[in-house]
Amino acid sequence: MTTTTYDLTALVKARRSANKFIPGVEINDRQLEDIFQLAKFAPSAFNLQHTHYIAVRNPEVKAKVYEAAYKQYKVSSASALIVVLGHKEAYRDVARLNEGMLNLGILSQQEYDDTVQSVLSFYTDRGEAFKRDEAIRNASLSAMLLMLAAKDQGWDSCPMIGFDPDALREALHIPEDYVPALLIALGKEDTSRQRPRGYRKPVGEFVSYDRF
Ligand SMILES: Cc1cc2nc3c(=O)[nH]c(=O)nc-3n(C[C@H](O)[C@H](O)[C@H](O)COP(=O)(O)O)c2cc1C
Repeated sequence: MTTTTYDLTALVKARRSANKFIPGVEINDRQLEDIFQLAKFAPSAFNLQHTHYIAVRNPEVKAKVYEAAYKQYKVSSASALIVVLGHKEAYRDVARLNEGMLNLGILSQQEYDDTVQSVLSFYTDRGEAFKRDEAIRNASLSAMLLMLAAKDQGWDSCPMIGFDPDALREALHIPEDYVPALLIALGKEDTSRQRPRGYRKPVGEFVSYDRF
């Protein structure tokens, strides 16, 4: 694992959305793996781990993502593009995901059966809109952790919604039951003309206590 650089407060404050990256910087398998190894500790509803990442480095594939992202310069100069997908049908995996806990005796057979049944009905009862919300909600939490992990390991990022999801789906062969939640451009930021951090509302404006 790459050595870490920041304590948590410093890490949160150091992460910025990169405006442009230094072109030509490569990120290798090991460096990506180190980031994903931390992203896997993101919380997820019922521990269903709804998120799937597609890491794009191949120049031809990158060019297609660049097109799908309306030719934003930072997409072409990034070292890797991380497509964050949420799986709408993640709940169907509940039995397999809990088998280890059953085999280790952490869950009794009864508890295992109850968990599987209740998760399946939780999602099927709530329907398609809920499954999509869940896909995006859980993928977004994972993506935030990924960006912090990347920063800690010396990589800058920019989360992006500026892309055409259908074009992205076609370019990357994304199955129908996965929703593109975010595109994350990853690389080393060119900070030569970095703007000051964007305005943040004071806490009193976005927090209320005990009622809205
Ligand atoms: C969901 C989401 C979508 C975003 N989409 C884009 C985008 O398409 N292009 C872009 O340049 N920045 C994008 N951003 C970055 C925001 O502009 C940035 O987070 C915001 O200005 C605050 O700046 P900071 O992240 O440096 O603190 C996005 C951020 C989020 C959270």
